[in-house]
Amino acid sequence: MHQNLHIPKICCTFARFLRIKVLDMTILERAAALKQQVEAMKAANADELEALRLKYLSKKGEISLLFDEFKSVPKEEKAVLGAPINQLRQLAEARFNELKEQIANAVAAQTVAKEDLTRTPEPIALGSRHPLSLVREEIIDIFSRIGFTVADGPEVEDDKHVFSLLNFAPEHPARDMQDTFFIEKEEGVQKPTDILLRTHTSSVQTRVMTSQKPPIRVLCPGRVFRNEAISARAHCFFHQVEGLYIDKNVSFADLREALLYFAKEMFGPDTKIRLRPSYFPFTEPSAEMDISCDLCGGKGCSFCKGTGWVEILGCGMVDPNVLESCGIDSKVYTGYAFGMGVERIANLKYRVKDLRLFSENDVRFLQQFESC
Ligand code: PHE
Repeated sequence: MHQNLHIPKICCTFARFLRIKVLDMTILERAAALKQQVEAMKAANADELEALRLKYLSKKGEISLLFDEFKSVPKEEKAVLGAPINQLRQLAEARFNELKEQIANAVAAQTVAKEDLTRTPEPIALGSRHPLSLVREEIIDIFSRIGFTVADGPEVEDDKHVFSLLNFAPEHPARDMQDTFFIEKEEGVQKPTDILLRTHTSSVQTRVMTSQKPPIRVLCPGRVFRNEAISARAHCFFHQVEGLYIDKNVSFADLREALLYFAKEMFGPDTKIRLRPSYFPFTEPSAEMDISCDLCGGKGCSFCKGTGWVEILGCGMVDPNVLESCGIDSKVYTGYAFGMGVERIANLKYRVKDLRLFSENDVRFLQQFESC
């Protein structure tokens, strides 16, 4: 029954000795011997493990040969020999998998050990603050140093707070659909309605005046909406910071001083201002403020269209009608107000030519403000 056992024909005497020895052994004895070898199997790396697999488990491995031989034993012997050689194969496979896992774990542990824990970490990509936020915060910071606090109000407003209380005549063009976005009460029905998107943050000023007693000193930053065709120079929404100061004996000179202080803080100590007469329904007198062009130092260039000045905000003394409508005694109190576009100030500071860049959120644009 050992006749067809496959033994490599090796010529040396030692091999011959082995061959005889092997041939003499019964299947059971060889299974027992292999069991001992399998239990003692060791492999330090994948190559050694592969050598073990070839030796014992491959098609021509010792355990497989045992099975080949088993096929030709008489039936009655099969019953006795089957179980031990099956157990041997299972044991060898289990041991092989155990060693495989040990090697994989060792490799993983080595990889971790190779990580240099003292290495400087990869830099974390930081976001940048939006230029409009930067400018808005700077404006707030400058005015907060002279006592202004921030007030907030809704973007969806009513006619009363945006127009009526601010002395807008009923037929004022700003109330026209061309300028103001009205909110339809019923979908698709464009009836005149008194709900609208605020066109300026003066609406927050009326909310403050109708709910607080003077002295009032507030800044009203926020987004405003106007029905304009979108271009490099105009958008249907933009941002404002408006200011309001109401107390006894507030004068136009106080307004001028506050604005001069702001201009120097924002654009540098050499900045000059000039006030030109203007008109707003809610202020009397009203003015438009220019600052000296910091590109040409006031000499005149293409940026300031040769004038040496650039316009930055509107302002004036709060019209007594507005104070009275809001329940403030205009014989006791006076006040000033001003309002500026944040985009306009940001343009002057950072020379952004196209207004649309502020709302497109292109990271290539935003990343330029990382260090600001
Ligand atoms: N509310 C004005 C505007 O939106 C700005 C302004 C505010 C002008 C306060 C004067 C006084 O254009």
